[in-house]
Parts: sequence; C-alpha cells; structure tokens
Amino acid sequence: MPARENWDTKIGFILAASGSAIGLGNIWKFPFITGQYGGAAFVLTYLICIALIGVPVMLNEFVLGRRTQLNPVGAFKTLAPGTSWFLVGGLGVASGFVILSYYSVVAGWTLGYMFVAISGAFQQFTDSAQAGSFFNSYGGNTFYSLLTHFIFIGMCIFVVIKGIKGGIEKYSKILMPVLLLILIVLVIRGLTLPGAEKGISFLFKPDFTKLNGNTILVALGHAFFTLSLGMGAMVTYGSYLKKDDNLISSAALIVFLDTSIALLAGIAIFTAVFSFNLDPAAGPALIFHVLPAVFPKMPGGYIFGIMFFSLLLIAALTSGISLLEVVISYFVDQKGWSRTKATFIFGSMIALLGVPSALSQGLLADVKIFGMTFFDLMDYMSFKYMLPIGGFLMTIFVAYYWGVKDFINELQSGCPQLTLKPAAAVVLITISSVLILVTLIAGILGIG
Ligand code: TRP
Repeated sequence: MPARENWDTKIGFILAASGSAIGLGNIWKFPFITGQYGGAAFVLTYLICIALIGVPVMLNEFVLGRRTQLNPVGAFKTLAPGTSWFLVGGLGVASGFVILSYYSVVAGWTLGYMFVAISGAFQQFTDSAQAGSFFNSYGGNTFYSLLTHFIFIGMCIFVVIKGIKGGIEKYSKILMPVLLLILIVLVIRGLTLPGAEKGISFLFKPDFTKLNGNTILVALGHAFFTLSLGMGAMVTYGSYLKKDDNLISSAALIVFLDTSIALLAGIAIFTAVFSFNLDPAAGPALIFHVLPAVFPKMPGGYIFGIMFFSLLLIAALTSGISLLEVVISYFVDQKGWSRTKATFIFGSMIALLGVPSALSQGLLADVKIFGMTFFDLMDYMSFKYMLPIGGFLMTIFVAYYWGVKDFINELQSGCPQLTLKPAAAVVLITISSVLILVTLIAGILGIG
C-alpha cells in the first residue's frame, strides 16, 4: 500500500479544516436561525456553546485522528481492539453518506442560482414574493435539481480523487482566500447601505427576553454542525497531521475563523435585509427567497448577487469534500481500495442516495416518511441524532474508556509547554458530554 499522505503545510491544513467547517452552515443556516430565534441573544448563546462544546470536541477528534493516523473506524479499532467502539466510527462514515446526499442538493441550488444571477434574471424581481415563487419553480424542477446536484457531487469527486496535498489542500488554499475576499466586499456593501445600523443592532444588541429553552437547544445543535463535529470529519483531517503540529492552536484558529465568517455573513445579510425592510425571520428560505429580491434594489446588485452565490458555492464545496473524504478514507484505509475507485464508486452512491432529496421540492413533495419529505428526513436524522450521538460517544470514549492521560500526551506532542491535569481534562470533556446529552434528550422529547 502507498505511504499515507500528510498535509504539506500547516496553513494548508488550517485552510482545509476551516474549509470543512465553513459552509452552508455559516452562510445559509446561521443567518436564518439567528433571524428566527431572536437575533443577538441567540448569537451570544451560540458563542458560549462554541466555546464549551466546540473547542473540546474538536480537540478530541484531532487527537483520535493524529494518534492513530487513521479514519474514524480504524481509529477506534486501534485504540479499543476487540470492542464495539468501532461502531462509533461506522456511524460517522454513515453520517458522511447521509449528510452529503442532501447537502449537495442545497449546494446544487446555489450553483443554479449563481447561473441565474449571471443571466440577470434576478434584476427583474420587484418583491420577495416573486423571488419566492421563482424558488418554488426552480426547486421543483426535476431536471435542474438533479443536474445541479450531480454536478456538485462531481465537483467533490474531482477534488477528493486527487488526494490530500494535490486535491483537498490545494483547492482549499485557493478557495478559502477567495471566499474571505468576496465576503469582505459584501460586508462593506452591506455596511454602506442606508439603515445598515438596524441590521447591526439586531445581530449584536441582545434582548434577553427572547431567550428560551429552544434557543439554547438550537444553538447547541448548530455548534456541532457548523464546526463539522460529531462524525469524525476532524478525526479524518487530523489523521493527516504530523506529530509536531500544535493541535490546540490549530483548533483555536479554526474555531475563530469559522465563527468570524458566520458573524461576517450575518452582517452582510442582515444589513441588506433591514435596509430594505424585509423579514429577518423568513426561515430556511431567507437566502433563496429574500436575497434575490434585495439585489435588484441595491446599486451594483447584479455583481453582488453573483458574488454572493459564488461565495456560497465555494463554502459548500470545501465542506462537501470533507464529507466525502470521511467515507473515502474508510474504504482506502480499512478495505484497501484505491482512492480513485473508492471515490468514483461511493461518490456515485451518495449521488444516487441524494436523488429523492433532490426531488423533495417537486416530484416527491407529497411523499412523506414520518410526516417529512425525504430531504427533511435526512436533515433531521443527521442534525438531530447522528451528529450529537457520535459526538457524545466520542467524548465518553476519551474521558472514560481510553483515558485522558493518552489524550494529554497526544496534545503535548507539538505543544510541549502544555500543562493540563488529567482531572481538569476529565471535567472539561465531561461538561461537553453532559451538554450534548441534554440536547439529545431534549431533541428526542421533542422540546428542540
Ligand atoms: N460544517 C459544514 C457547514 O457548516 C458542514 C459539514 C461539513 C459538516 N462536514 C461536516 C457537518 C461534518 C457535520 C459533520 O456547512
């Protein structure tokens, strides 16, 4: 078997891992849930969740990956041989399958919208009702939904097939700076619109009367999704790290970048939404129903519309490849498949699994399983159960089965100055486990 690859540079790894974290979660989901769950009070809750859960769980995943230099299944098989712990890794690989199958449907809409923006069609919209009915006919169109979904998976396959250095790292190094640049331009455009300050205070001036149990649950769940935690994506990316990399500073930087991009996206979107008196609580449709009606009204809207949907596509691509890589690394490490063969075969299977999700706004809109469309079911299963269960079991594994001594040892490799008492590590990891467990139970009881 060829030697296992490593990241070429530290910055390449940081950009690839931030690329995984920064995705539709930051630019599509974060703004709309902030709009729905009360603005600044939600933002504050989310920031606390990121600090209490995000950082420790990310460190857990990096440690498991780098220690074993393996995919999530291999990692558990190595550290807990002869036990059933490897099933946690298996759940992660399955989550990668499920999440990518519907993530790519939304990414496909983004791709389609980029072309619609280029064609100038948005310029004819006079209100958000028009943009909304355009979305319904677009998402309901079998041909376009399937085509863009397949193209997006094809793009992920194209990058993943080239491996770590020449694929994921290379493309992340190009795409992430472009993403930041486009976002900065959009933030400046937003801030210079009349009435922008209303958007800013919506995001940053908390009104604590808006805070309730539900807000906290949504913030907790989102902390997982936005940082790509709970399914071993960061185990996989960590497995390509060398022993002298500092895991703690890397995790801190990735979390900082992910959070900053979400806040910047919030600024770009809410300054525009408030400036044109649109509804911040429009829900999942915020970006597809509301924004296309905003662009024609702002000076330079044609160009800003194209930039916005390109930004979203780039963010989705660097996340999509991380989801695919988890599945591929499993078949390459554990089953000895060649990367090319595994990527083609499993990329195609994920594309097929996504077909019913792609048709969920149209042909299959009336087919309901447990009262949900196929698309909603995939989202619900992964977001509410698979990720939190995976994350919870990983924290329990490290704190109570594998033991924190080895965990601290691995953190110290690359960060020798670290002095962390085992008892303190157990407490920190346990706080995250308890918080995850509470979300999970509340979710099962239907409170979330
Ligand atoms: N974090 C990405 C986003 O915010 C989505 C994502 C990519 C993800 N890889 C993941 C979520 C692994 C959970 C697990 O859009």
